[in-house]
Amino acid sequence: MKNPYLPYPVRIDKIIVETEDKNLRSFRLVFINPEDEKAFAYTPGQFAELSLAGYGEIPIGIASSPTEKGHIFFTVNKVGSVSSALHNMKEGDIMGVRGPLGNAYPLESMEGRDIVIVAGGFAVTTLRSTVTWMLHPDNRAKYGKIYFIYGARTPGMLLYRDEMQKWQERDDIETYITIDREYPGWDGLVGMVPAVLEQANPPSANATAVVCGPPVMIRFTQPVLEKLGFADDQVVLSLENRMKCGIGICGRCNVGPEYVCKDGPVFTKAQLNELPKEY
Ligand SMILES: Cc1cc2nc3c(=O)[nH]c(=O)nc-3n(C[C@H](O)[C@H](O)[C@H](O)COP(=O)(O)OP(=O)(O)OC[C@H]3O[C@@H](n4cnc5c(N)ncnc54)[C@H](O)[C@@H]3O)c2cc1C
Ligand code: FES
Repeated sequence: MKNPYLPYPVRIDKIIVETEDKNLRSFRLVFINPEDEKAFAYTPGQFAELSLAGYGEIPIGIASSPTEKGHIFFTVNKVGSVSSALHNMKEGDIMGVRGPLGNAYPLESMEGRDIVIVAGGFAVTTLRSTVTWMLHPDNRAKYGKIYFIYGARTPGMLLYRDEMQKWQERDDIETYITIDREYPGWDGLVGMVPAVLEQANPPSANATAVVCGPPVMIRFTQPVLEKLGFADDQVVLSLENRMKCGIGICGRCNVGPEYVCKDGPVFTKAQLNELPKEY
């Protein structure tokens, strides 16, 4: 059995500066050993520990979809020691990836239902994975209507703009891409994500909502989902508690009896209602 603390060696194939402040960069990684790619079989919603020799590891949501072969993809905000070291890496450099870790979005139980994706800021990463997976020809027919509501502070802070433009041109996904307030040259939607969700007014009768964003967005989104008729077991959230081992051993990430790294990071709102508010 493989040592769970041992990362797979990967090469940085491409670095994309995503946002105008240059603090968000995406890293496309290629496994050095092709058999490691097979071993790293993941599902949207999972995360991995990105490992940098001499600096440490950080948990980061997997932004690529398993339908995208040949590489994995992460988007990292530069906030502290390890993420800054990663931002200093160059294409061609070697680093490590440990995972995939955690549970995933409940894609099977979401089959046959409408899907409402609600994302704010750079928390859209694992939702990019989810939408890419659902839009793949092998999977699209499994789901009903897909609503994608995503907001950022300014146009320059939106991630994956080229890709989202392609989603906007499709007729099998309804996209609502918004920025917080008017901005020169922006002729798209303006307004906070919860307000735009309310205007989009997706039907809740046979739907699941998946919500990822900063805590304030999540707080204001919940009453809107309630108003639209979503029960707590129809709302799925992903937590980002501090982590260390990522495999349910060190106890760093507990919320009550749950290990966010192993039992989560994905929980329904109904499950979170049963837990202490330590997240
Ligand atoms: C399951 C999961 C998925 C994540 N996905 C992403 C992702 O896709 N992209 C991304 O950029 N980040 C993501 N994060 C957050 C990321 O792990 C932290 O930003 C990172 O660990 C910071 O490490 P550092 O060494 O750069 O900063 P540090 O030097 O450790 O800390 C710098 C600052 O960041 C804050 N910080 C550290 N860890 C966290 C955390 N978990 N949540 C909030 N604030 C934190 C600290 O309080 C401090 O202010 C995720 C976290 C989890 C648990
Ligand atoms: S991070 Fe160690 S138990 Fe979750």
